[in-house]
Amino acid sequence: MRKTGVDAGKMPAAEPLAPTRTAPTSMRAGSPRSHDTTPPLPTPHSPLPTPYPLDTLSQNPYNTHHITMIKHIDHTFGFATRAVHGGNEVDRETGAIRRPITMANSYELPYDPSVVNWSSAEGNVYTRNGGANQRYLQEKLALLHEAPDCVVLASGVAALSGVFFTFLKSGDHVIVSDSTYIAAYRLLHELLPAKYGIETTLADTSDWSKIRPLVRENTRLVHIETPSNPTIKISDIKALADIAHNAGALLSVDNTFASPFNQRPLALGADLVVESLTKYLNGHGDAMGGAVLGKKDLIDAICAEAMVNAGGTISPFNAWLIMRGVVTLPLRMARHNENALQLAAFLEALPQVRFVSYPGLKSSRGHAAAAAQMPGGFGGVLAFGLDADHDGHNRFVSRLRVITNAVSLGHDESLIVFLGENDERQYLYPEEFHRGFFRLSVGLEDLADLKADITQALE
Ligand SMILES: Cc1ncc(COP(=O)(O)O)c(C=O)c1O
Repeated sequence: MRKTGVDAGKMPAAEPLAPTRTAPTSMRAGSPRSHDTTPPLPTPHSPLPTPYPLDTLSQNPYNTHHITMIKHIDHTFGFATRAVHGGNEVDRETGAIRRPITMANSYELPYDPSVVNWSSAEGNVYTRNGGANQRYLQEKLALLHEAPDCVVLASGVAALSGVFFTFLKSGDHVIVSDSTYIAAYRLLHELLPAKYGIETTLADTSDWSKIRPLVRENTRLVHIETPSNPTIKISDIKALADIAHNAGALLSVDNTFASPFNQRPLALGADLVVESLTKYLNGHGDAMGGAVLGKKDLIDAICAEAMVNAGGTISPFNAWLIMRGVVTLPLRMARHNENALQLAAFLEALPQVRFVSYPGLKSSRGHAAAAAQMPGGFGGVLAFGLDADHDGHNRFVSRLRVITNAVSLGHDESLIVFLGENDERQYLYPEEFHRGFFRLSVGLEDLADLKADITQALE
């Protein structure tokens, strides 16, 4: 058993219970000086107060002397065990078996602060340089992705821009999937070329054989999203990693639609994995966060640029919420996968439905590649279109009583959004998407209720 509890035979002799902390006599209520607000003047030779050892601060007399269990969870444990225990330890001050939320901007400096590197993301100095809850979450996510290192940032877009701004400079070229979350498109297709002279090629990365000819001498990054938002395209991670590496470029993969339960791109050759923690990893629709995972030198560079210098740090509270959400990721993901697969097949059989895009369907273009690289399942998001006009699509959504009309995905509840035929990126989508379509994030509800909701809304 790798959880190394202290062997009872070797346990240190119990120490006497630590003294409880008492206020100085002069400050105690009822003492002669209790109403005297003048602080006593320090006498020049009075000794410095002896600091209390950390573990005597606890008011719990049962856990004042030592922590008996030090967890050691590594990647050899199963995925669910890593999701539950990763990044967690017994709190040394209180003995709580959950690490607390540390809502502090600043941490105590050492005796000689000149030894501190103010721009470093190592160690606790100032929360923009990284905080305790962020580090616990990084530990958990690195275990789930079997990644050497991880940085957690304020949102998925902070993680994406962290990758782009850290690894691209003027004159560089990037190849990016033509189906990605809109912010990746805006950053790579509009903002970075216009402001910083970065060259971008949008490409259908679902056909890797078309990508090699697009490589240029100055190609530094290939960025893909698989499954992709919003058309649910699949790109072959292994094949694209080879192409990127032969060009001396990095491959980054936005893994948000899959989560580490379904797909682990680093094991398939990717250099960087991006996760919007706002989605499946948190899973409850109540906190935003993003992560990038990869080798330590790459993650160190993102920490310095995107977090310390650009300020994309996550709040300790959001990191704590997401840490709690990740615990149930395996259970939730299995249900999302199953509900989505069943619902995709149900929708495909309806006469009012024009098309369904879901990699779990054998009819889907990306099925074979997805089956090879998504061992956990095909995810919870699908796209479909009705045999209806613009208004017909909106009417359908307005009649739903269980599925919620809202953006985002990976929440506990099912969410649907209509992306009309006037979408500015229409020209990049496959033909069947041109008449408007829905993106449906299938939630954890009873499948029968989801089917019934769709049936009654179509009547
Ligand atoms: C695939 C993908 N990546 C990144 C993001 C951005 O994440 P966030 O909203 O946490 O910034 C999203 C948001 O929908 C997304 O779908």
